[in-house]
Amino acid sequence: MQNFLASDRDDGLALMREQIALQRRDPDAAPARYFYHSPFVYRRELETIMFRSWHYAGHVSQLAQAGDYFLFELADESVILARGDDGRIHGLINSCRHRGSRVCEAQAGNRKTFVCPYHGWVYERDGALRAARAMECLQGFEKEKLGLKKVRVAVRFGLIFINFDAGAADFAAHMALLDRQMAPYRLERAKIAHRQTYPVDANWKIALGNYLECYHCQTAHRLYSRIHSFKSLEHEVAELNRAMWARSAGSTGVPGLEQSLYRIFREAPAFGACVYTSRYALFPGFKTGSADGAPLAPLMGDFRGFDEGAGDFQFGPLAYMLNYPDHCVLFRYVPRAIDKADMEIVWFVRGDAREGIDYDREQLISVWHQTTLEDKRIMDANARGVRSHFYEPGPQHPQFEDTPRRFFDWYLHALEGDFSVTEPSTRAHRTSSVETAG
Ligand code: FES
Ligand code: FE
Repeated sequence: MQNFLASDRDDGLALMREQIALQRRDPDAAPARYFYHSPFVYRRELETIMFRSWHYAGHVSQLAQAGDYFLFELADESVILARGDDGRIHGLINSCRHRGSRVCEAQAGNRKTFVCPYHGWVYERDGALRAARAMECLQGFEKEKLGLKKVRVAVRFGLIFINFDAGAADFAAHMALLDRQMAPYRLERAKIAHRQTYPVDANWKIALGNYLECYHCQTAHRLYSRIHSFKSLEHEVAELNRAMWARSAGSTGVPGLEQSLYRIFREAPAFGACVYTSRYALFPGFKTGSADGAPLAPLMGDFRGFDEGAGDFQFGPLAYMLNYPDHCVLFRYVPRAIDKADMEIVWFVRGDAREGIDYDREQLISVWHQTTLEDKRIMDANARGVRSHFYEPGPQHPQFEDTPRRFFDWYLHALEGDFSVTEPSTRAHRTSSVETAG
């Protein structure tokens, strides 16, 4: 139990520091209730984590033509991702430089210019202010200084990432560490077959913490667990993984897929720039993530066959992928408010695959749609449970819950304002293959 009456205390820096110290007394325990419910912590984590990390925003196919745009939204922030006349992708803070109105409300489309609905200031596709009606009367009015503010944009593997921190190191260079395992899917030429948002009534750390562990898989995901060996402890499926790694290059025609690389959270190449890959086995008879194990779509990119394995990836703290030889599934977690988050799932297939002919959309999405609905149910229940004043964090499993533990250690450092990164540790991660990539 907490050793004070919460209602006696101001929700501020001093309380946060005490709570961090308490949490550190038992670093193997699950996160305390405080970190899910303190409005101070929520504001603090936006500043220390969300505005400094790389976030998946979308795919290049969403910005095929000049003027194409879509909105990326996180908490109260909105960013316009737009393809400029110069062919480049611009990330523009969706807040007018006059009185701050949202400039663009529609989620996606094509625009010649962005016209603020309030007093009609006009912005170019790259955010430059083109016209500000009647403002020429103002002495010293400098249009050039009043373009929409910009965020950093990085593009690799056809995936578009943004960072609110102008000083953030180049994420495209960090993602290059995953070239060997990611490039063969040729995602830059892939198409989005389906996209779906699953809102949860839970703090974003409950949603993300759930993704980071598979201790719950056997209880909550019966279909997933019939297909994916990741639900098992490592020693239970060591032989299965070794056999898959040994045949992977021969079966798929892609060398090096079996290599793993872990640079996540405190061990990321730079703050908020996590990159991770490993490949784990599917159970015998499952070529891909389908209910019956049969292929769902044409082989992706450079793939020439199935190895009964799947590639697991992480990009930044909130975006993940699970890539099968014939389709790729992206998972993104988005904080909306202190007790609301979205899971967004994006299914990719080869760019020339035709719906209804080369793949069936319902079948393609069925495993991860069902699994995500199951996740939503357990996240909502977890969120309701940790609201109890009598919730006391329990012990976490050393292997199954190792990644959430690493996440939370990074998170606590960030809350304290410690953005340093460390060398990759020698402590093994789950499902490490024999070699290390990069
Ligand atoms: Fe945009 Fe006034 S707030 S033009
Ligand atoms: Fe799950």
